[in-house]
Amino acid sequence: MFNFFKKKETTLSLPDYLPFQTDIHSHILAGIDDGSPDIATSLQLVKGIYDLGIRKTVATPHVIGDIYRNSPDTINLALEELRAACVEEKINIEINAAAEYMLDDYFLKLLQDEAPLLAIHKNIILTEQSYASSSNNLNEIAFAIMTKGYRAIMAHPERYFYYHNNYESYGHLKDMGFYLQVNVLSLTGYYGKSVAKAAKYILDNDMADFVGTDMHHTRHLAILQKKESLELFKRHLDKRTYNVLSDY
Ligand SMILES: [Fe+2]
Repeated sequence: MFNFFKKKETTLSLPDYLPFQTDIHSHILAGIDDGSPDIATSLQLVKGIYDLGIRKTVATPHVIGDIYRNSPDTINLALEELRAACVEEKINIEINAAAEYMLDDYFLKLLQDEAPLLAIHKNIILTEQSYASSSNNLNEIAFAIMTKGYRAIMAHPERYFYYHNNYESYGHLKDMGFYLQVNVLSLTGYYGKSVAKAAKYILDNDMADFVGTDMHHTRHLAILQKKESLELFKRHLDKRTYNVLSDY
């Protein structure tokens, strides 16, 4: 029998935005690392994240001794170029710049020489390790970072395969003083199944302090824009509001 009182089915409204408004990890500055190759691409990426609700972004070009010896000079020059292009295109987004420091000998030398490091916010710097193996003496490096007055975020801990058989390592990183930053793209399986699993573990156990896009190119942007991706991010990022820099 037809039920007149049957509730009308409603379509679930799909999220149109990323579940955070500040991005703290991206490679959107033009021509200084393996991210955006030119200013036109940078603008495309910035417009893309603006449309996804990002209103503040901290670009983090790589600083890797063997490949990208970026300095405050090269980074700030690229930042000014992108800011000017955004003004021209009337994109109302705040763009700052820091760096993503590989924990290599070059970084240790910068630290020892007390070269000014580019921070995400106050004294917080973004760091990464090699995907091949964990940095030697990570404990000592973490201690040296704090001795020099910085706090380090470990970028995408879920992407280091050598931690996949030992999730306790994430807790050890936090014990060493690292904040953890998960790439939202990891959740989609973009970097592989084991990376997605590790990302979910870190987020679902509320061990992530920050999240980021780590956006390098338009292929990354296209995945961020997918409805399924946005739903997935929302589901795993519901523990807290991420990337509120004024909290730090
Ligand atoms: Fe990165």
